[in-house]
Amino acid sequence: MVKSFATRFLTILFASAMIIACQQEKKKRINFPPTDLAQNNLIPKPLKVIPTNKAFGLDRYTAIHTSQNANGFFEVGAFLADKLKTKLNLDIPVNGNGTEPVERIIYINQSDSLELNAPEAYQLYITQDSIILNANTAEGAFRGIQTLRQVIPEESNDTLAEQRIWPVPTGKIVDNPTFGFRGSMLDVARHFFSVSDVKKYIDLLSYYKINVLHLHLSDDQGWRIEIKSWPKLTEIGGSTQVGGEAGGFFTQEDYKEIVAYAAKHYMTIIPEIDMPGHTNAASVSYPFLNGNGKTPKLYEGTHVGFSTFNTRKDTVYAFIDDVVREISELTPGPYFHIGGDESHVTKKKDYIYFVEKVEKIVQKYGKRMIGWDEVASANVDSTSISQYWSSGKNAQKAVKRGMKVILSPAKRAYLDMQYDTLSKLGLHWAAYIPVDSAYVWTPEEYEGIPMENILGIEAPLWSETIGNIDELEYLAFPRVIGYSELSWTTKENRDWENYKVRLANQAPYLDRMDVKYYTSPLIDWKKSKYTYKEIKKD
Ligand code: ACM
Repeated sequence: MVKSFATRFLTILFASAMIIACQQEKKKRINFPPTDLAQNNLIPKPLKVIPTNKAFGLDRYTAIHTSQNANGFFEVGAFLADKLKTKLNLDIPVNGNGTEPVERIIYINQSDSLELNAPEAYQLYITQDSIILNANTAEGAFRGIQTLRQVIPEESNDTLAEQRIWPVPTGKIVDNPTFGFRGSMLDVARHFFSVSDVKKYIDLLSYYKINVLHLHLSDDQGWRIEIKSWPKLTEIGGSTQVGGEAGGFFTQEDYKEIVAYAAKHYMTIIPEIDMPGHTNAASVSYPFLNGNGKTPKLYEGTHVGFSTFNTRKDTVYAFIDDVVREISELTPGPYFHIGGDESHVTKKKDYIYFVEKVEKIVQKYGKRMIGWDEVASANVDSTSISQYWSSGKNAQKAVKRGMKVILSPAKRAYLDMQYDTLSKLGLHWAAYIPVDSAYVWTPEEYEGIPMENILGIEAPLWSETIGNIDELEYLAFPRVIGYSELSWTTKENRDWENYKVRLANQAPYLDRMDVKYYTSPLIDWKKSKYTYKEIKKD
């Protein structure tokens, strides 16, 4: 208590000193034409935005300061400085030594205010002289930094001053998400994606405050993570992919690198080993696992539902124990996804027996089990989680068991569904999902699932039809940006006509990041100085 009071006192003193210092420099304040925070690019739209129609001049005389004794705050400040350097080519000191000429500050402040008592809540106060970001946790500060990145214009206002200066609209933002779980999934099994591809996806998702990345690490066509106790999984099972090209896999070091990179972006990685179906690659590597009575061969096609583990052999569970243990040891997040979908050649009673046994293994390694919606047909624990992709009935079973549900209905939220009949990539077995129909639905009221059972929303990207990062981006963007808003923003604050304008304003950012998004004709994309080349595919 004493320490917390002292820290708070010093923080206030420091902030006041900085503000006074800035006020002494008022003569250098530049009067920008009025700007309006409410008309900005913000996605997801914050809870409250109160514009004050002036501007903070961001330039080389701006400095970042952070609370000194608050865990992770300095790193959040350094993250912002790094992004401003890339975006604006501007070097901004973080907790500098006082020798730099400073006219305006961005202060990232740890606050114990009761208004900020949710982990991701933040408040942003932008005046002409200072920007103050208050958050209780570094995670909240990190989310607030994304908002700030979005309100800083991509282009400077060169006519107003000798040095380059970026007018940041003034006002107050109060924000907190609807759902604490906001995710996307990437299937690295049908086609493999490299560590750098995954990192770029993390960069883009975290800009939109998405905080979960689920990696689908195994399927019939490939096993993509090194398991030290079962090396043939990757040697054999990782060797190919859909279409027959060479596959690939993450070494444990690669996976740790992804997990650490995600953690820096306050993002949780969920590993998925899909079983008892979708297991052909594992069974080719170790045929004793196989339960479909046939000799397994490497598979490069896209059919589903033909493979199964043998659910009645103890050695299969010894194998699964090793896999879950090794991956859980590398995964700091609370979840382990066991798949459980489309086990069409597993007998119903064997499927139930299997899911109940594997749930115990997952729990033994300290994780919460997630499974696709079919797992609720087994007698699973209320702490396990059902991922609704196809069956409303299964979702209702999960609710009856007291489970949380992740909403990923294929006809609304699958990123691999084609935009329309002209789409060059993707499938359409669930639906065509144009950019508006991806956005215009109400997860809070979806098919009668009570709000208290909804953990959040996840948009899965399956990779049967995509084999490189350009193709990944074409299917994911811009739709995944809409899912970020559906999971963060209250339903009262969502509106397609308003969203559409904010989405159009993402073009300069997406272009600068070299994202090959689908330039949907529903959106009047803002022009930017970067040239956009849409991917070509015959
Ligand atoms: C799924 O799409 N099979 C979960």
